[in-house]
Amino acid sequence: MTEQIKIRREKQGDFREVFELNHIAFGQDNEAKLVDALRINQIAFVPELSIVATDNNKIVGHILFSKISIKDDKGNLNESLGLAPMAVRPEYQKCGIGGQLIRKGFEVAKELGFKSVIVLGHEHYYPKFGFQPADKWKIKAPFDVPSNVFMAIELATDGLKNISGTVVYPKEFETV
Ligand SMILES: CC(C)(COP(=O)(O)OP(=O)(O)OC[C@H]1O[C@@H](n2cnc3c(N)ncnc32)[C@H](O)[C@@H]1OP(=O)(O)O)[C@@H](O)C(=O)NCCC(=O)NCCS
Repeated sequence: MTEQIKIRREKQGDFREVFELNHIAFGQDNEAKLVDALRINQIAFVPELSIVATDNNKIVGHILFSKISIKDDKGNLNESLGLAPMAVRPEYQKCGIGGQLIRKGFEVAKELGFKSVIVLGHEHYYPKFGFQPADKWKIKAPFDVPSNVFMAIELATDGLKNISGTVVYPKEFETV
């Protein structure tokens, strides 16, 4: 099944299918609506970082990375990326598609000059791709969350060197 999976940038004609995919993977509409809302945030949205996995032209996976900031205690903002949400159709899960989407996202993000990614998610899943607890860099979530599920990765050597503080998410995340 995975041999015929293609990974590519999302196109406008994909939006409805991506909504349905998020709806089915999460069993609710919140994440699907978040993706729709983030696409129209001209500051946070990076079109190259909304990526889909297809099987025979059917969308079976999607990942989105949006611009976020890390605000230090002096109020300085450092740009990073937030990985959220990502979804794979239930019948295609555990075949490595999620991993392919993450790795492609990292590759594109590096090409675009981003130096790090932050994720809130499964503590056993994301470390497979190099994520480590964000408190290693003294980076905190803007809400109460167990430290092992709030993670970061450097895309470039020392991508988070001397960067610490609290993550500021685009306002669209407040409604999820
Ligand atoms: C989280 C999610 C996106 C992962 O996608 P996925 O395509 O299943 O991910 P992968 O296949 O890369 O990895 C999943 C697991 O399968 C394993 N795996 C990867 N390739 C495999 C293969 N060829 N054969 C068997 N297992 C494999 C991985 O090691 C991983 O193991 P784990 O269960 O111990 O973590 C998917 O489960 C999903 O959509 N979940 C619902 C929505 C959600 O929770 N999203 C994340 C929060 S934003």
